Order: sequence, then structure tokens, then C-alpha cells
Amino acid sequence: MVKPLRKAVLPVAGLGTRFLPATKAMPKEMLPVVDKPLIQYAVDEARAAGIEQFCMVTGRGKTALIDHFDIAFELEATLAERNKREALDLLREEAMPPGSISTVRQQVPLGLGHAIWCARTFIGDDPFAILLPDDLVLSETPCTAQLVKVYNETGGNVVAVSEVPKEHTNRYGILKTGAVEGDRVEVTGLVEKPAPENAPSNLSIIGRYVLLPEVVTYLSRMERGAGNEVQLTDAMAKMIGHAPFHGLKFEGKRFDCGDKAGFLEAQIAFALARPDLGPAVRAFLKNYVNA
Ligand code: G1P
Repeated sequence: MVKPLRKAVLPVAGLGTRFLPATKAMPKEMLPVVDKPLIQYAVDEARAAGIEQFCMVTGRGKTALIDHFDIAFELEATLAERNKREALDLLREEAMPPGSISTVRQQVPLGLGHAIWCARTFIGDDPFAILLPDDLVLSETPCTAQLVKVYNETGGNVVAVSEVPKEHTNRYGILKTGAVEGDRVEVTGLVEKPAPENAPSNLSIIGRYVLLPEVVTYLSRMERGAGNEVQLTDAMAKMIGHAPFHGLKFEGKRFDCGDKAGFLEAQIAFALARPDLGPAVRAFLKNYVNA
């Protein structure tokens, strides 16, 4: 029996420079796709996979993220007074149980690996998920739930992977692969952002991970990797051979919301998938595409 997965770390300390000026006074994770902020998609996805405890690794200027998960008492009172049932129900549905979100600050931007290390006390001796809110997945079964299913069967580490064009390998963590079994791939090596000519495959890690707590031990060494940052991928690579390690070619489509075109595509895909908006959006899009 594997230890049940109940914890998730959400790294949200990034500056969001690619979305300035929108992110000058607002965290990028508060940018909405249709009507829900990116951070809320990540939390909803994790909760759908049975995760109960969250740690947001924040930085300066990120208080809106903490407020977002608090109860907005005045707002709720006003909505109740005005009999706005639907809006009120929506807020209550998304309300988090008391004490389920903690935060730590990443005081210096030393990379994703360093951000995860900052959550080491929260992680303790438990397996945990990581969700990078910039990566949004539209799927039948929430992506983290797909990873948890594999984790429950195999134990060890599981990452969501997707194929990328060879010329884009320098944007991602890339897998070296062993045995393939359906949608599961054995991970035999990991390289962070290799040049296309050095990439061991075109299978990239997307921002969804289930990891064993041992990764923290390797992160503590603070070894610098690609971009002179402490890379999570490098610490994960050190666990290969010590515990099962699988990549899952998940069902669904991933959108890179850290990129303007990816973010816009996500808006359209998520709007089209919504029964209340899909038909109207499909109708008006035709006018633009044919113009
Ligand atoms: C991070 C990881 C990388 C992963 C990517 C997924 O990179 O370091 O391995 O493939 O997220 O989005 P970043 O996007 O922070 O440069």
C-alpha cells in the first residue's frame, strides 16, 4: 500500500513579467481564464484528486492569492441581503476548509527547485503533488487525478508528460525513456531544458508532479543547473533507480498560460467547452476567422 496523497505545493512566487502591465499590481496566478483565476483551477484540480492540504510558495505582492481563498464576509453578507443566490452558492462551493492552505515565502528567486525546498516543513515525510498554475489542462478526468491513479498503482514518482516539437525541448524538462506500457513511460533520465540536439526524447514534463518527499534531500544540496537555478528536474533525476518513476501521457490538452498565445488559446478552448458560453463564442469566432 502506498501512502495516500493528501498534500500539494503550489509555486506562485514568479513575477509574471511576460504579462506586464497586467501583472504590475496583481499576481499572474490571479489572471482569469473565462471567469476563474488560474490559481483556482489548480486548487480545484487538486481537490478533485483527493488533496486536502495546500502550501502556496509565494513572494512579495502576492497577498491577493491568500485573500482569494479566504471567506469574503462583507461580500457574502451583501449578496445574501440582495438575494443573489447563484453568486453566493458559487462562493460557498469553492470555500476552503479552515486551515487547509498555508503559505511560505520564497525570499529569493533561485528557481523552481528552490521554491519547492522552501515548502520542506509542509512536505515533511509525505508524498506530495506539485501543480504549476501556469499550466492549465483541459481534460475529461482532471490531470492530477490521472497521476494519482498511476501513483496508487505503482508508488514512487509520477509526472505528466506530453510530446513537444523537437525545436522546443529547450523550454522544458525532458525525459529519457525506458519501457513503455500503454500511456505509462518508465523514466530512466531527466534533463532540464536541453538543446534539441542533446534532447534524449521529445517528451516534456508539464507542470503536474507527484513526488516522494526524498526529493527535498536532493534539493537541499542547492546545486545549480540550467539558467544557474536550483532545478527541480535535476533533483528528480537523482531519485531515478531508488524508487519507481513514471511519466504519464495524460488524457487532455495542456495550455501554457505563461505565454500570451497559449493564454489566449486557453480562454477560447475553456469558453468553447462551457455549455453557457460555447455556442455564442463559436458563433462570433467564425466572423474573425473568416475576416
Ligand atoms: C518548469 C520546469 C520544467 C517543466 C516546465 C513545465 O519550467 O523546470 O522542467 O517542463 O516547468 O511548464 P519553467 O516553465 O518554470 O521554465
